[in-house]
Amino acid sequence: MRKKIIAGNWKMNTDLNSGLELAKNVSQKVDEFAFNSDEFGMIVSPPFTHIHAIGNVLSSKIGLSSQNVAEWSNGAYTGEISAQMVKSIGANYAILGHSERRSYFGEDNQVLFTKLKLTLENNLTPIFCIGEVLEEREENKQFDVVKSQIDEVLFKLDVVDFKKVIIAYEPVWAIGTGKTASPEQAQEIHAYIRKIVADKFGANVADNTTVLYGGSCKPSNADGLFSQPDIDGGLIGGAALNADDFVQLLKQLVANK
Ligand code: PGA
Repeated sequence: MRKKIIAGNWKMNTDLNSGLELAKNVSQKVDEFAFNSDEFGMIVSPPFTHIHAIGNVLSSKIGLSSQNVAEWSNGAYTGEISAQMVKSIGANYAILGHSERRSYFGEDNQVLFTKLKLTLENNLTPIFCIGEVLEEREENKQFDVVKSQIDEVLFKLDVVDFKKVIIAYEPVWAIGTGKTASPEQAQEIHAYIRKIVADKFGANVADNTTVLYGGSCKPSNADGLFSQPDIDGGLIGGAALNADDFVQLLKQLVANK
């Protein structure tokens, strides 16, 4: 059965000291909480600069992720960080295609497919983000938008690689805005995502695909979201910067599944 996950996206927040402090606090709270780690997982995604140091203080129950990788494997790309570098400092996951990367850095489906391949080649598990902007939601285009984001990137993988991917549905209008999708809105899209995965790769693969929800998810609204059958956890921004809230979300996930 698919794994249920709480993943924290720290974005460009914390310096090394405050990042280490946060990772230690989260680790301590997670270690005090007994849960089945085959069924549930927790991941943190600090800035590149902290990943290595955080790996040294992080609970063994928590996975470590980058927030991006370069679209090249190595060479003269000043300022870029490759998937291989990320892997070599102890990370096992990489967030790809976050809406902030798509909108501020112009990452399109073609670039994301290249990044996806490099991520998989370096044995990092991709956390691949999809989701519509407000205008698209208002025009009821959310289904078409997520379908094309999946078709043009994830469905270009073979089934063996596709099965390694974690999908994160993040309606862009809900990210950092305090506006969450209602549990029904989120469930509707998650069920649709699972349906198109089933159409492409079969019901068994769809059943085993983890689909996270992201966008202003916090303890006060998580129960409604996590109790939905096709929501397998969350990709958490703001609330991942508070150790109590972040670990509380894991507890709520476990309680709702
Ligand atoms: P948020 O961010 O929880 O602060 O809305 C989620 C994300 O961007 O991954």
